[in-house]
Amino acid sequence: MSKKNDKKSHFARKCTFPSLSEAYCSDTLLENLQTVAKSSQASVAKQVVVMFACRDIFFWLVFTYEVAPVFVLLEYVTLKKMREIIGWQEGRGDGIFSPGGAISNMYAMLLARYKMFPEVKEKGMSSAPRLVAFTSEHSHFSIKKGAAALGIGTESVICIKADERGKMIPSDLERRIIEAKQKGYVPFFVSATAGTTVYGAFDPLMAIADICKKHDIWMHVDGAWGGSLLMSRKHRWKLNGVERANSMTWNPHKMMAVPLQCSALLVREEGLMQSCNQMQACYLFQQDKQYDLSYDTGDKALQCGRHVDIFKLWLMWRAKGTIGFEAQIDKCLELSEYLYNKIKDREGYEMVFDGKPQHTNVCFWYLPPGVRYLEDKVEKMKRLHKVAPVIKARMMEYGTTMVSYQPQGDKVNFFRMVISNPAATFEDIDFLIEEIERLGQDL
Ligand SMILES: Cc1ncc(COP(=O)(O)O)c(C=O)c1O
Repeated sequence: MSKKNDKKSHFARKCTFPSLSEAYCSDTLLENLQTVAKSSQASVAKQVVVMFACRDIFFWLVFTYEVAPVFVLLEYVTLKKMREIIGWQEGRGDGIFSPGGAISNMYAMLLARYKMFPEVKEKGMSSAPRLVAFTSEHSHFSIKKGAAALGIGTESVICIKADERGKMIPSDLERRIIEAKQKGYVPFFVSATAGTTVYGAFDPLMAIADICKKHDIWMHVDGAWGGSLLMSRKHRWKLNGVERANSMTWNPHKMMAVPLQCSALLVREEGLMQSCNQMQACYLFQQDKQYDLSYDTGDKALQCGRHVDIFKLWLMWRAKGTIGFEAQIDKCLELSEYLYNKIKDREGYEMVFDGKPQHTNVCFWYLPPGVRYLEDKVEKMKRLHKVAPVIKARMMEYGTTMVSYQPQGDKVNFFRMVISNPAATFEDIDFLIEEIERLGQDL
């Protein structure tokens, strides 16, 4: 074994990295913490610590292996585990922790463009034809933001029709791809959503993967919200086909309740992130270091110093085990099903879409008695549009609870209850309903 590999396995052994499945007791976790602390400090020269005026390892930056050896390795094993869960063979591929789902989505778009037109990195957008990206009309606004930031332009993001449940319609996707090609545009990126922000819908990934394969387009899955359902044996089928994607955004800081910020971009192709983003700054990423340079992960990121987002996720995973995350995700879905069952036939409530929600998003209108029986449809919608904002404002004034609302397409303001806190109870759900009725009955 080479000297370089010796060093890798040394840290990997010390921190017992490979076992991210079971839940461990507090003594083992404490031992892990001590090992992380010792291994982090031992590898860092005192002067470097002084230079950054920071001895606290938990505020350390991740850019090179020599500065953050343990965190680099924790990222390595955790990202590998996440890729295994996606279904990529032996967890192969690449990835990075980023400041949030919006940035992870932008990374995916950047990689897709680089894969097709690597010369854009040096020569800019004038070296590429007119590129177009596709995503559903229910997708997150970060796809358009990414297009704006990368100089592709928001008008180059083509919004595909969604069905009444908010899922992308594959036939419309293919039609729009063909149409774009006929106009001389180059389709380079499709972003399917696994768990849309408002309806919690899961786009049909298998059908989308077929279309991407046929037209040779990068398939990204924005699983910022719904990606964590992969941890649940009961719900992971909703992401069937994700294993065929080129990249996936997965935010542990949403459904897995990891404190902000913690978002991962997972990429199927190894090495692409490095060549896409590296600048090889000679004061950090010297090519003649004595260790394996792939562990200097900073050069594949857009940032220079990166916050240590991995540690809390890794530690939570060690503490709860995969089974613990699964239980909390299943519990949130159970609570949302309870809410759905409670209001679907209750007087004064109407669901925004038919059938059980796929995620924890329960979208509904509350129609106070004064609105409920109005015959004039236009007047009824006008009045209903104002109900949710007033009830929410009253909730905030009383400080009892809070629930978000929004319009969607031609639908007037409705409530969107999203459950991501596994500590919530059935009684909390009962209280929410009582509160909506108490605060809204006079409207
Ligand atoms: C589907 C989806 N994608 C991306 C994002 C953005 O994630 P973040 O807030 O971590 O940037 C969100 C946030 O709500 C989302 O729902």
